[in-house]
Order: sequence, then structure tokens, then C-alpha cells
Amino acid sequence: MRIFLAIYVFVVIAAVSILGFRGTTSTKPPLEVFPDMDRQARYKPQAENEFFADGRNDRPVPAGTVARGNYFNQKEVFSADFEDKRLGDTVLLEGKNADGSFVKKLPLEVSYELIEQGRQKYDIFCGACHGAAGDGKGVVQPYMVGAVPANYHDDRLRSVEDGYMFDVISNGFNQMLGLKDRLSPEERWAIVLYMRALQKSQNPVAEAGI
Ligand code: HEC
Repeated sequence: MRIFLAIYVFVVIAAVSILGFRGTTSTKPPLEVFPDMDRQARYKPQAENEFFADGRNDRPVPAGTVARGNYFNQKEVFSADFEDKRLGDTVLLEGKNADGSFVKKLPLEVSYELIEQGRQKYDIFCGACHGAAGDGKGVVQPYMVGAVPANYHDDRLRSVEDGYMFDVISNGFNQMLGLKDRLSPEERWAIVLYMRALQKSQNPVAEAGI
């Protein structure tokens, strides 16, 4: 018992001395067991660089080039007769009408190719969480903390507008991530179409048309 107590006291003192003071500030460099990538050769913005004759790290934009990505000033950036008709098309790009309400039906022509594209993208981007049938039972669902992926087969999600679905895919919903940086507007609409097919597949109505 005495030995046990001695070991116990020793372990407590060792643990406190090693771990106990980690919250205090120190001017000494921290002990780095695994330095990882904390210290690496890199160029800092606006720093000096002897490699270049002008001694600057940041390189000026080559003459005659146009910065990409400024899509809103199209005529200035491209040419006076350039016009992308989709710019400002809130229906296609945001799933919303001009008054901000959600678009009822998807603004693309429905075709087998579109639904097939939707299936492919759905399986890649949604299926892991929402399940192949859209019932919210994807492979990662048992491991998720907090909200579980939605099951599309309830009356509320059956009756929401296509534009609402498009908005959820684009901007996310609570814990769900938005995917507009990874899927083009057409691909997002294709997924909406496929989700509608999934909903119909789990809730068939005898008289319903297509
Ligand atoms: C990382 C997991 C994950 C992925 C991937 C994912 N979702 Fe979700 N989704 C969720 C979770 C979690 C919720 C429920 C969020 C909540 O209720 O807080 C949700 C909710 C939803 C909802 C219900 C919104 C509502 O009004 O209740 C829809 C519709 C939806 N997702 C569609 C999609 C589509 C389509 C994709 C693929 C483009 C997708 N999700 C990808 C996790 C995911």
C-alpha cells in the first residue's frame, strides 16, 4: 500500500509538472516534439526578396493581362459587346424569382440526360450522408454528431419548391455544407430533378403522371 501511495504521489506530481502549467505564458520557444510544417521556407507577402532585381517579393501582374474573376464588370473586363446572358439570372443561378421567392419548377428542360447527370452528382456529393434512396441513412450517418441528414420522404420536403432544394444545395442548411463552389448551377438543378425522382420512387401515387 505504501508503495502504491508513493507511485500515486509521484505520478500526480509528474503529471502536474508536465501538463499542469501549459496554460501559462512563457517567453521561451515551445518544445517541438514533431515540428511538422510549423517552420518552413516560404515567401511572406510584401517582404523583401533578393532574387528579383527590384527586391520585391510580390510580383507585379504581367503587362497586358486581365485579372480573372471580375465577372460583374463584364464589359470593362472583356469587351463592349461581351455579354453573358446568365449574369443576373436569379432563377437559374439562385433558384429565386426577382421578388426573392423560390422558383416553383426547375428552369431547365427535363431530359433523361439531365436526370442521369443528377444521379451521378447525387451519388458523389449527397449519397454518403443522405443515402442512395434519400432516406437520410447514408454510410456516415451513424457517425454524425448533432443533426442527422434529412430524409427527403416527408410531406414538408415533398411540397417545398424546386428553388428551395436548389438553395439548400447551394448554400447549405444548418449543419449541412453548401456546395455551390463545387457544382455548377446546371448540376445543382440536375440533382434537384433526381431528388424529385427519388421522392416519387418512395411515394408512388397510382394516378400521378410523370
Ligand atoms: C456531410 C453530410 C451531408 C452532405 C454531403 C449533404 N447533406 Fe444535406 N443535410 C445534411 C444534414 C446533417 C442535414 C440536416 C441539417 C439540419 O437539420 O440541421 C441536411 C439537410 C438537407 C436537406 C433538408 C433541408 C430542410 O429544409 O430540412 C436537404 C433537402 C438536403 N440536405 C439536400 C442535400 C443534397 C441535395 C446534397 C448533395 C448535393 C446534400 N444534402 C449533401 C448533411 C449532408
